[in-house]
Amino acid sequence: MKKAIVLTGITTTGTPHLGNYVGAIRPAINASHDANVSPFYFLADYHALIKCQEPERVRLSSLEIAATWLALGLDTDNAVFYRQSDVPEILELTWLLTCVTSKGLMNRSHAYKAAVAENEETAGNDPDTGITMGLFSYPILMAADILLFNANKIPVGKDQLQHIEMARDIGARFNHIYGEHFTLPEAVIDENGAILQGLDGRKMSKSYNNTIPLFEPEKKLKKLINKIKTNSLEPHEPKDTSDCTLFSMYQAFANADVVAEIAKRYQEGIGWGEMKAILFEKVNAEVAPARERYEELLLQPDLIEEKLQIGAAKARAISQPFISQLREAVGISRFGGK
Ligand code: TRP
Repeated sequence: MKKAIVLTGITTTGTPHLGNYVGAIRPAINASHDANVSPFYFLADYHALIKCQEPERVRLSSLEIAATWLALGLDTDNAVFYRQSDVPEILELTWLLTCVTSKGLMNRSHAYKAAVAENEETAGNDPDTGITMGLFSYPILMAADILLFNANKIPVGKDQLQHIEMARDIGARFNHIYGEHFTLPEAVIDENGAILQGLDGRKMSKSYNNTIPLFEPEKKLKKLINKIKTNSLEPHEPKDTSDCTLFSMYQAFANADVVAEIAKRYQEGIGWGEMKAILFEKVNAEVAPARERYEELLLQPDLIEEKLQIGAAKARAISQPFISQLREAVGISRFGGK
């Protein structure tokens, strides 16, 4: 049986934090070791340009994200790990798809609609102020990322569900006009996948400014964990594990037995200071070895580049013949014999 192609992109605008790690990176790295799937993971640097016009930040974020995935032990023999901009066929396909995508479909995109709604709230503003064609047609670029490799499963957060639906619509439209070329992808939303809370108890997210960077040096990691918000119950007072950021973070790093022990300690009234120390030890034990490799890798960008070029070559071995087939299908191939 053909292996399922699992594909996901990481937008290169930030530094990975513990929430990204637990929710997306850790499961993806684990999947990279599964010989029954064929993972495609890429640095979505063209997507980064939609949100970020600071070249240094895009460059640094790409390097940090690549180093993070490699440091965590991504299996690059099984997984195809590449930079989006190293695969020009993605952009070529974006145009082919743009020409079959109705504007009405893009009008319904949540990201675009949210930007328009924000403009409309600001009195007197043109609804399209600050909205680029990149933002407007972003779902088409994402559809190209997915369809070019005929990916079957796309692990994403709930916020991306609409984009996968759109990729299906766009792929189906192309298939309808030009014949069956594309496999239609399915979103995989991991319902049990941990959603980590941040320093203030809300979902850990760059936009809330409440994150703990994944590879923060040990001392800083300890400091940040000490900053996590708790209630004001004193040591010895029994505490509730539900809706406790410390506890849910602990759960994301510990196995069930140890978690049960900690739950007992909550009933007995563990102090917040002690719980923070226990949490720090747990998180640090899991990330410390990778942090060391990460720091070494950042000093060897050539090594990272080499890995990415190997990934790009594997990706293009698939995308080049496929794009020729697609060009042929739409009628823009060369004349005469081969
Ligand atoms: N847009 C996705 C995000 O913001 C990243 C992404 C780009 C992606 N291309 C993709 C995810 C293709 C899955 C498949 O999270």
